Amino acid sequence: MKPARLPRAPAPGGKASIAVLKPDSVTALMAAANLAQSLEFPLVTADLAENYDLILAATGEHLELRDNLSPRMKPVSVDFTDMDLRRYGLNLSRRQPLARAIGKKSRLVVDATAGFCRDALLLALMGFRVTALERSPVIAALAQDGLRRFTARTGVALTQRLQLVTGDARDLLASTVPRPETIYLDPMFPSKRKKSAAVKKEMRLLRAIVGEDPDALELLDISRRVAIDRVVVKRADDAPPLAPGPNLSLSGKLVRYDIYLTRR
Ligand SMILES: C[S@@+](CC[C@H](N)C(=O)[O-])C[C@H]1O[C@@H](n2cnc3c(N)ncnc32)[C@H](O)[C@@H]1O
Repeated sequence: MKPARLPRAPAPGGKASIAVLKPDSVTALMAAANLAQSLEFPLVTADLAENYDLILAATGEHLELRDNLSPRMKPVSVDFTDMDLRRYGLNLSRRQPLARAIGKKSRLVVDATAGFCRDALLLALMGFRVTALERSPVIAALAQDGLRRFTARTGVALTQRLQLVTGDARDLLASTVPRPETIYLDPMFPSKRKKSAAVKKEMRLLRAIVGEDPDALELLDISRRVAIDRVVVKRADDAPPLAPGPNLSLSGKLVRYDIYLTRR
């Protein structure tokens, strides 16, 4: 008989309730227990897992997030295989709008809204040294797992190029040493444009976990005080600038990079 459904576990900050699945295998148990402890989520057996909105599960191959609210959806894991890295090999061209927005002279870039680290990885492969900051420990754990598998698959060691730090950029930026030439921001924004089913699923889960980034303007203000050369804000091409008066805008495929120069 199926166990009775317990009331849902209280969601931290009113967001989705999340637990880590206790694996059957003894070898995987330690890793799952450590993950649950570091994220401060309960470690639950499969029969209790359905009482939570979202379940983090280590499958042996990857870490994945299962959505109990839409059980027919495939779980989300961070997998960079769908990124088009072939065209330029693993040393990506700097002719792309993203690289031009960051600026030729920039060496250290802080990606202060790292999310699943797709942009941070692109920047690292373009040769920038990247510190990626992500305040959601769940998103950071999924991204870290994706980066680990990227290195295993491609042999490209990222440690010298990309460092992922969990924490709120509003607290961390002021103490970043050395100061970055460029700070890159990609806060959540509800674009009206139609998205593919895969992107929609990722965005829906991101929203369920992190919400809407209502403090993006505050983050931009702090970034403008810290960046030596510029702050670059990625926007959907149908979105208004995050703050009025970017000095320059570059358009890419469906996105726009608004550049706020900070040299005084
Ligand atoms: C739209 S996603 C970024 C996607 C990312 N550019 C990528 O390529 O995967 C926005 C992310 O920024 C994070 N974020 C927003 N404000 C933040 C802050 N103050 N500090 C750290 N992370 C933040 C959110 O938790 C969310 O994961």
